[in-house]
Amino acid sequence: MTPIYDKFAKVYDRAFQPFEKWFLSRWRKETLDFLPKNAAMLELGAGTGANFEFYPNTTLAISSEISLKMLEIAKKKKKSNRLIQADAQNLPFSENVFDAAFATLVFCSIPEPEIAFAELKRVIKPGGSIILLEHVRPPGALGYLFDLLNLLTVALIDDHFNRRTAEMAKKSGLKIIEIREKAAGAVNLIVCEVVK
Ligand SMILES: C[S@@+](CC[C@H](N)C(=O)[O-])C[C@H]1O[C@@H](n2cnc3c(N)ncnc32)[C@H](O)[C@@H]1O
Repeated sequence: MTPIYDKFAKVYDRAFQPFEKWFLSRWRKETLDFLPKNAAMLELGAGTGANFEFYPNTTLAISSEISLKMLEIAKKKKKSNRLIQADAQNLPFSENVFDAAFATLVFCSIPEPEIAFAELKRVIKPGGSIILLEHVRPPGALGYLFDLLNLLTVALIDDHFNRRTAEMAKKSGLKIIEIREKAAGAVNLIVCEVVK
């Protein structure tokens, strides 16, 4: 099946531009600041490469993404990182290769997040980190609104608007170190540690 983001690749950067300016770029930097320096790092769902400018110095940086069309745009922003097409649920790496991995706005569109977490656990060294910036189901009444919106976003763009991503990470055996709530809890910066 063709990845859904193939359809959005050409308009993605333009559509996100205002959000980048208002808050998203700042949140991206805050997220990537949790990554270790001079380490081996993997990005999942790198999209059009919006995070590349915030990558720390690394010994190895691999930016993976399922949509070839998104990758074509990311290629223009590439630095020393390597770009590969890969499904987060089936990573083409051996065990214990990376010190850290991260994803921004990706776990909402992965069909089976538990499988992606298991893959991350496999390819990241024990004690390594996984850093996520994700929109999630917020607490309180807003959560019910997100449940309704989820019906639309799943039907239209395969995006699970009301995922409980931190809970899923915990159930997958990751140790949650910190959760920073943003936008009334509708966005979470989640810092996890790999325990094997
Ligand atoms: C909302 S975009 C976010 C892109 C980028 N991370 C950013 O912050 O701008 C979601 C991205 O996740 C990718 N994606 C969705 N499911 C995936 C999967 N199973 N494996 C790898 N990437 C996936 C999509 O193709 C898309 O590029």
